[in-house]
Amino acid sequence: MNAAQNPLRSLGPAGKIIVAIDGPAGAGKSTIARRLARRFGLLNLETGAMYRAFALKALRAGLPLDSVADLEKLAAQTHIRLEAGPAENRVLLDGEDVTAILREQSVTDAASRVSVFPAIRAWMVRLQQEMGAGGGVVMEGRDIGTVVFPHADVKIFLDAAPEVRGMRRFDQLGPKPAVQPDEVIRDLRERDERDRSRADSPLKAAPDAVLLDSTNLTLEEVVQTAEEIVTTRLAALAALHQPEIDKA
Ligand code: DC
Repeated sequence: MNAAQNPLRSLGPAGKIIVAIDGPAGAGKSTIARRLARRFGLLNLETGAMYRAFALKALRAGLPLDSVADLEKLAAQTHIRLEAGPAENRVLLDGEDVTAILREQSVTDAASRVSVFPAIRAWMVRLQQEMGAGGGVVMEGRDIGTVVFPHADVKIFLDAAPEVRGMRRFDQLGPKPAVQPDEVIRDLRERDERDRSRADSPLKAAPDAVLLDSTNLTLEEVVQTAEEIVTTRLAALAALHQPEIDKA
C-alpha cells in the first residue's frame, strides 16, 4: 500500500490513532488485530499475553491463584514487556522471552483466574495505558474500549457463538489433539463466564463499539469488515480535522 492509499496519512499527527478490539476468547481478536495493524501501519498489542505472562510467573512461584495479597506482592516485582513482531508479540517476563509457553492450558486457565482481581487489573491497565499513550496502536483484550482507552478512536467488539469459537480453537490444536471438541467448548464457556461475571471491568461491549459477529463469516470476510470499520471511522475523523487543515 502506498502512502496515498493509507487513510492514516490524511490525518497527519492524528494518524496516531488507537484501535480497541475487545471480545471473548476464540473470537479471532489476535488475528484481526494483527491484520489491521499490518494494513494501517499500527503497532499490535495483545493485552491477554500480559495477563498470561503474569499468570505464568504466579504458577512458577507456586502461589495460590486466589491469594490476592500474594499476587499483589508478586506483581510489584514483575516486569512485563510486549515487543511487536511480524506474526505475534514477543512477551518478555522479567527479561525472559516466554512467548512460546503462554498458550499452554495451565497458563490459559491461570490467566483467567488472576485477571479477576482489581489490584492486578489496575496494574495491568496502567501498563497498557503507558504502552498505548503515543497512539498508533491496535490494542486487543477484554476491557480496552471500556476501561483502558475509553476514548479510543475506533472500537470493535468481536464476537461469535461459543460452539464456533470452540471449534476454531479445537482446529488450531493440530492433527492429534489430546482433548475432544466438547471439552474445548466447555473450557471456553467457563472462561467466558469468569470474564463476563467478574465485578471489576467485566467483558462487555463499550456502548460506542461496533459489534462484529463472525459466527457465519470466513476469516477474510471478518478482516474485510474490520478494515471497512476502521476506514469509515478514519474518514469521519479526517472530515472532522479538515476545517483545521483548510485553515492552516
Ligand atoms: O486474550 P487471552 O485469551 O490471551 O487472555 C488471557 C486471559 O486474560 C483471559 O482469561 C482474560 C484475561 N484478559 C483480561 O481480563 N483483560 C484483558 N484486557 C485481556 C485478557
